[in-house]
Amino acid sequence: MTLSRRKAIALIGGGTIFAAGAASAAFLTTRTPGRALAPWDLAGSYADPRERALSFALLAPNPHNLQPWLVALEGEDALTLHQDTARRLPETDPYDRQIIIGLGCFLEQMVIAASADGYDVDLALYPDGEDGPVARAVFAPGGTPDPLAAHIMDRRSCKEPFEDRALPASAVETLTGYADVVIDPARVAEIKELTWDAWLVEMQTERTLMESVDLMRFGKAEINANPDGIDLGGPFLESLMLAGILSREGQADPDSSGFQQGVAMYEEMLLATPAYAVLRSGGNTRADQIEAGRRWLRLNLATTGMGLALQPVSQCLQEYPEMAPHYKRAHALMAGQGETVQMLGRLGYGPQTPRTPRWPLEAKRMNA
Ligand SMILES: Cc1cc2nc3c(=O)[nH]c(=O)nc-3n(C[C@H](O)[C@H](O)[C@H](O)COP(=O)(O)O)c2cc1C
Repeated sequence: MTLSRRKAIALIGGGTIFAAGAASAAFLTTRTPGRALAPWDLAGSYADPRERALSFALLAPNPHNLQPWLVALEGEDALTLHQDTARRLPETDPYDRQIIIGLGCFLEQMVIAASADGYDVDLALYPDGEDGPVARAVFAPGGTPDPLAAHIMDRRSCKEPFEDRALPASAVETLTGYADVVIDPARVAEIKELTWDAWLVEMQTERTLMESVDLMRFGKAEINANPDGIDLGGPFLESLMLAGILSREGQADPDSSGFQQGVAMYEEMLLATPAYAVLRSGGNTRADQIEAGRRWLRLNLATTGMGLALQPVSQCLQEYPEMAPHYKRAHALMAGQGETVQMLGRLGYGPQTPRTPRWPLEAKRMNA
């Protein structure tokens, strides 16, 4: 989560930070975590077409930006994708459902990037069963370039309030080809309340809160050292950190004023939502979860191309006991009998937010 200046002002209740902050002009201009963002500039710059596609794939959305992927090139034209089981979210995603969705996003972005590069990818999911690699991919020249590739570099998960502006009917119609789109005001209001209630459960449950806090990276040095997780960076937030207003201790302490301002900020964001996108599936197998990820990525690229913002809001879909009532509510509201809601996202008009950190491809190679 990269907090904007506006949000950061909300975080401290406005006003006094400029006096409190120890920031000099030089400090403010050198806070970009260049190393953590370098993979964005390296995308497409490799000699091997598989590496070129992978260098785009690793820019895919994924839960808490854990990047739980490992890849091995095989022979001249193939690769395998493996789940990095050291990168899990055992408290909020105990069955790895969301982690697998993120791997589906990775695969789809790989296939789309390869298509734009003149390669067709033949994918086999779990070729050795669910304990083996997630997928084996064989690249061959050919195929049809996918126009969604044009939006890979601008795609974001937009963690900001959206404008109070309805989606035009034409946009709703287009997006209905990708997901269920909810614009009915009464249903939007119900889902809004659900996302807020569910988010509060995550914050008020110590072990789920701490799972996030442990993944927070405070400032440029931490972000460059670990380009994953929840990145809290940029000049303004770093001046809050220097002033002692934003800290790991504060974020772990529900009684602290920093924590409470953060809650107010999140409420404002969640409530500033004119529409939702929902992905559901008839089953809930690993293949269904990969497919949901592939669909989410296509939706996210399509919204990007349409100038729309999208943010997953997953708390009510999470499978731990304290969340069970909201999980049930989510399914009653958004799924048919026996279906699983795989993804729920806020949809609307929002600002273009900064790129988020990534580990470079070289860190994700099993046989480099
Ligand atoms: C399965 C899944 C669940 C996610 N859930 C949330 C969520 O609940 N809230 C949120 O703000 N972002 C969520 N995200 C978005 C990630 O935080 C985001 O993809 C990651 O931080 C990288 O940022 P980017 O998408 O802007 O590149 C989710 C992404 C995926 C794939």
